[in-house]
Amino acid sequence: MKPTWIGTIPSAGDRVTLRELTRAARGPDLYPQLEASLKDQLGVENVALRASGRDALRSVLEVAARRTGRREVVIPAYTCFSVPASAVAGGLRVRLVDVTQDGRIDPQALERLPLERAAAVVACNLFGVPDDLSQVSALTRSAGTWLVDDAAQAFGARDRMGPVGGRGDVGVLSFGRGKPLSGLGGGAIAWNGPPEGFGTPPVPEPGRTRAVARALAYDLALSPAIFAVLSRIPSIGIGETHFEVDFARGPIDPSSLCLVSANVDGALNRAKQRERVARTLAGRLTSTVDCRPILPPPGTSGVFPRLFVVAPDMPRRNAALNALERVQAGVTGMYPTSLDQLSELRPALCEVGSYPEAQKLAGCLFTLPVHGNLRGLRLRAVETILSGALGGQGPEAPELWQTATRV
Ligand SMILES: Cc1ncc(COP(=O)(O)O)c(C=O)c1O
Repeated sequence: MKPTWIGTIPSAGDRVTLRELTRAARGPDLYPQLEASLKDQLGVENVALRASGRDALRSVLEVAARRTGRREVVIPAYTCFSVPASAVAGGLRVRLVDVTQDGRIDPQALERLPLERAAAVVACNLFGVPDDLSQVSALTRSAGTWLVDDAAQAFGARDRMGPVGGRGDVGVLSFGRGKPLSGLGGGAIAWNGPPEGFGTPPVPEPGRTRAVARALAYDLALSPAIFAVLSRIPSIGIGETHFEVDFARGPIDPSSLCLVSANVDGALNRAKQRERVARTLAGRLTSTVDCRPILPPPGTSGVFPRLFVVAPDMPRRNAALNALERVQAGVTGMYPTSLDQLSELRPALCEVGSYPEAQKLAGCLFTLPVHGNLRGLRLRAVETILSGALGGQGPEAPELWQTATRV
């Protein structure tokens, strides 16, 4: 039987729309509008653009270290490798804290750490879900430690303390690919009060022609036929997570400035569309498959860069991912290890403790795309494979299973 699906669906990423392209090419006053919009949406007085989220975080942590006279940073033991890489690039040592089963900083674990030695605690708001900072901020405040509200994955999310990125002593944004607010690169620091010495590189003139060319190339790359080719070229490294400390420092790329300015006002609408898809997928999965989608708790709102799901255990998660490779449906694992297992980070760790929840997440998480292209027969094949591999009341479709596993 012939495969019923063509090409590879990307795991994340929204297309740049015609409206955004037109704004990038011709919209007036791009930077002033971006600055005003970020300040308004985050509820902050100051914004400084940087080359990337890593560069923004590095700069924040360096200043926190100078101001507090301390050289440690507390980082969740399960997060993007870019977070500890930023700390190491800033010359700091890393102390890990275990997370809850949903990937939030565990306040009880944080309470046991010598916070008086930490310049900062970084809350990562993983998966577009706001971390509950009420207990965390009480602990950092009494220890004189900075609380960094990292909104790289969660721009647009909020809880009763306010918008993610605007709740701590300082916020960090990333405009990288697949982020809730994307400029295909770039990042920002957001804070209230006087200039903190983060260093504000000059804002470049928007690079409009290159922005349009990059956006068109990106849209093309997201189409399943092209993505199928790109994802098979190892040197491109799509979906890989690296620990890299030699990243570019300084101003945002002119074309990224242009794209993020064009995208900022549509970010919330796109988040709403992704949320609709994610909640529908989560509802379908929980009724047929033994798994636990990570959703924002009641009273908070998330932004769903993808749908993040926890499998019952690692062998079954891996079996599901292996079987799903044949369907090319954009279902992937996440960061492959907890940070205590990351050998490149070892020399910078203050100590290696035990982080059972972080390790469980590394072994059990998988993600589904929420850009809307996973649907129809391919979605049913995904459900069938997941219920076969993870257990549950899967759709009764043996012939679909055969198709799914034969391709
Ligand atoms: C939580 C978090 N913080 C910071 C970063 C770094 O952002 P960038 O990729 O723009 O350097 C990332 C990147 O994915 C991230 O997920």
